[in-house]
Amino acid sequence: MNRTPLLDVKHLRTRFPTERGEVTAVDGVSFQVYAGETVGLVGESGCGKSVTSLSILRLFGKHSGTRLEGEINFEGKNLLTMSLEEIQKIRGNRISMIFQDPMSSLNPVLTIGDQIAESIIRHQGASKKAALEKTVEMLRLVGIPSPEQRVFDYPHQLSGGMRQRVMIAMGLSCQPKLLIADEPTTALDVTIQAQILDLMLEVKERLNMGMILITHDLGVVAEVCSRVLVMYLGQIVEEAPVETLFEHPKHPYTVGLLRSIPTLEGNRSEKLHVIEGMVPSLHQIPQGCRFAQRCPYADRLCFDQAPDLTEAGRDHKVRCWHQDKLSLEGGMELAFETRERRETLSG
Ligand SMILES: Nc1ncnc2c1ncn2[C@@H]1O[C@H](COP(=O)(O)OP(=O)(O)OP(=O)(O)O)[C@@H](O)[C@H]1O
Ligand SMILES: [Mg+2]
Repeated sequence: MNRTPLLDVKHLRTRFPTERGEVTAVDGVSFQVYAGETVGLVGESGCGKSVTSLSILRLFGKHSGTRLEGEINFEGKNLLTMSLEEIQKIRGNRISMIFQDPMSSLNPVLTIGDQIAESIIRHQGASKKAALEKTVEMLRLVGIPSPEQRVFDYPHQLSGGMRQRVMIAMGLSCQPKLLIADEPTTALDVTIQAQILDLMLEVKERLNMGMILITHDLGVVAEVCSRVLVMYLGQIVEEAPVETLFEHPKHPYTVGLLRSIPTLEGNRSEKLHVIEGMVPSLHQIPQGCRFAQRCPYADRLCFDQAPDLTEAGRDHKVRCWHQDKLSLEGGMELAFETRERRETLSG
């Protein structure tokens, strides 16, 4: 693997103004994506996955008051200090994004052919005719039957699965170097999900793209990602190669996420393990470890002082004072059920 990362995010901070004061939704996030690899970004709802990906392309309204800090280096340039004109040339061209909800990202009054062709014309300066031919080719590539006819359809004429394929065709039409896919298959049924993922991976291989895959589905992560970032309340709490993360997780939060995966063999009536408690509000970030209130291992130190993200092994980083306890055999089996003790500590 070429060791110069395609994308190098350093100390990213994203702040939003709100009626109750400013919140820091992404707080000092650093990670790299190399060409040809798929990095998974996981964590419960609201932990900052989408804000991280939107920050990369600065997809916040000009007047939204959003503040971005840090560096986002892509092909040797810092996307955060670039002019808007420059970043617009990169969006949908060198870096593409696929969103969760295809309906909100497709224009309902334009045919899908025109939408894809427009992006090819804008970014690649192709003629209208060449762009339409390329569009048909892309739609065929993503498995849309009779693409010559489908180019004249409007988004509402397609099923959800087909619309998602159109989004992917659009995202890939300019052969991006980096694809950011934010829950690309969540809205689809399971068989279609698998087909779409296979398709994205196939194209990724062919183009040697780097990919960031945001998902709630750890099964998908296990299948397609090479490296995983686990986020909690705006920070990365664990980063590891996928096998390491699944076999030797060191952050209690990661363990909690892993234990909440339904297994195929599992007894359906057995209650699924969920992480106790709720994610704190961005308006009330705990002074110590952000996960302490919900963590079975939390002690005084955890409530008083925030741990840093530290090296825990080869390509493995963890943000936990007690990461070594978890690597002990059976450590993971220690209960997630000591609520009383935690309530005493958190006062
Ligand atoms: N424009 C905004 N103004 C204020 N707060 C925001 C804004 N956008 C996002 N947030 C907050 O930032 C936090 C992170 O949101 P984000 O959408 O990144 O979560 P997520 O990890 O993508 O969750 P999900 O899995 O539900 O998609 C949330 O608390 C959210 O309410
Ligand atoms: Mg999201």
